[in-house]
Amino acid sequence: MTAGGDLAALVTRAVQEADAAGSVDAVRQIETDLLGKRGELARAQRSLGSLEPEARRSAGQEIQLTRARIEEVLERRRSVLAGAERAERLAGERLDLTEILDVQYRGRVHIVQRTRDELEDVFVGMGFFVAEGPEIETDWYNFEALNMPIAHPARGMWDTFYLELGDPETVVLRTHTSPVQIRLLQQQEPPLYAVMPGRCYRHDTPDARHTPIFHQIEGLVVDRGISFADLAGTIETFTTAYFGPDIHARLRPAYFPFTEPSAEYEITCTICKGAGCRTCSQTGWVELGGAGMVDPAVFAAVGLDAEEWSGFAFGFGIDRCAQMRHEIPDMRVLIENDVRVLRQL
Ligand code: PHE
Repeated sequence: MTAGGDLAALVTRAVQEADAAGSVDAVRQIETDLLGKRGELARAQRSLGSLEPEARRSAGQEIQLTRARIEEVLERRRSVLAGAERAERLAGERLDLTEILDVQYRGRVHIVQRTRDELEDVFVGMGFFVAEGPEIETDWYNFEALNMPIAHPARGMWDTFYLELGDPETVVLRTHTSPVQIRLLQQQEPPLYAVMPGRCYRHDTPDARHTPIFHQIEGLVVDRGISFADLAGTIETFTTAYFGPDIHARLRPAYFPFTEPSAEYEITCTICKGAGCRTCSQTGWVELGGAGMVDPAVFAAVGLDAEEWSGFAFGFGIDRCAQMRHEIPDMRVLIENDVRVLRQL
């Protein structure tokens, strides 16, 4: 009978079309064409009616066999395509958390604030606590309680901004963070170990190392039996912790009305590594701030007995620290707010 040859051709056709099918839908279409109610196999089945019972049975069996083989061929192809389609869909839905998108720049914490945070961390690690005071101060806190009576020549060390508030020259933008020492000593009984960061103002002409608005971090230790060695050791520990072992510190004799003896605290210029450059005025050293043993007159101003208590204080520039740590030749970039610079810091 001819049906056998037709049936074999149907299986071959199924194999070829299934191979060419690119999707599960295409396989379904082949299935309809070959195995559906109006498909090729159904037609062969219908023609069985005209056969003798004997022949009908064997032809019927062949048709069933053909159907099973075509189903198998199509099923195998379908499962391959379905797997590929699922993989493609999953890949499309996958969330790649490491992907870097070209998004708008978000901004960041300013380098001076970050430096302040880092300095606080170093001192907190050494057992200090952090305190703050107001930026607008009275003459008494900024000068007088710090052993600088009215008309004291040492006031000339600070180029003060006076505010038009109250009597003339009684209210100032604080010229340093030292007045916070006084506020703290009024509030708390010693022993105390504190750092006091904040913004300060001086009537200075901006240059590579100065801006009229800047930041200091004040340190104050008051306890029994504190010596200059404690001060030197604290400064040394801080310097290596913050700047690294290559940067050296030196203390040079200096004068401040509220400390005795007093010292100037300098570190190797990080811009030229000590060779001399514009930033350090060719000296190889950059002054970070002042330090010294708390003067008995300061203890007297807050009613503490200088026979019982001793201490040291220091104050240095946060902006200077940022400048030296990040090797910024000119400090004015810190306040110019050019995003091209700020993004690099
Ligand atoms: N207040 C001083 C200044 O601004 C620095 C200083 C602080 C010196 C503490 C001694 C002790 O120049």
